[in-house]
Amino acid sequence: MRRKIVGSSWKMHITSFDEGSTLSRGIAKRVGQRKDIDIFFLPSFPLIQCVESCFTDTTIKYGAQNVSVAEKGAYTGEVPINLLKELGCTYIELGHAERRTTYNETNEVVNQKARLCERYDIVPIICIGESTQDLDYKIGHTQLRTQIIWALDGVSDEFKKKVILAYEPVWAIGKEKSADKAYIEKTHAFIRQCVREVYGVATANQIRIIYGGSVSPQTASELANSEDIDGLFVGRFGLQAENFEKIIDNFVKGGK
Ligand code: PGA
Repeated sequence: MRRKIVGSSWKMHITSFDEGSTLSRGIAKRVGQRKDIDIFFLPSFPLIQCVESCFTDTTIKYGAQNVSVAEKGAYTGEVPINLLKELGCTYIELGHAERRTTYNETNEVVNQKARLCERYDIVPIICIGESTQDLDYKIGHTQLRTQIIWALDGVSDEFKKKVILAYEPVWAIGKEKSADKAYIEKTHAFIRQCVREVYGVATANQIRIIYGGSVSPQTASELANSEDIDGLFVGRFGLQAENFEKIIDNFVKGGK
């Protein structure tokens, strides 16, 4: 049985400690004691400690939006994984579409970082998704399959089961509405089938696949009872504690 999980990356939307701590405290107050679902937040690096202190005595976990491929050395501007481990990060996001396009994060780099996460026992949230161009060329599924196989190469079978795959169609990020339910369900089923074919039934049954891309409280209601959708990855619409709570509530309760 896979546990539901809802989390949010703040990307670079939060630009002051004041804003970050107000939001974290609001979230802690509203959903900090929930035990029916896993919850996580990924702030910018300098905000991690602030989030950590606001989430003390809650069930909420936190992590980072990126990490260096190198463990240490002369890599100006990079952040080593050991510091993230010492800060108590449970998760690290890898391969978000914005990082793939703007910062040239390749499948190979995503794979190196995924292997590093295994060494430090930090769960990677690996973003995969097809672009409009992939759809135009009718290679949407090929793109997803390629990203999965690259990302998980050399990762142990045990660790693969812990990994979170975040399906984020590139064309649905930063839009008014998420992709539609039928499309998301079909694609999640494809992703699980792909994991089953390549890594076997046990991994496919345990790996969590979450949806991201303009997730709102409405998306959360729509996707609540879908078999292959284990969670949501929230962006802009989770930047208010009240809204985030609604997303959690709607996803847990769904059509019930
Ligand atoms: P968005 O971001 O909800 O603001 O579209 C989603 C994401 O990129 O994870």
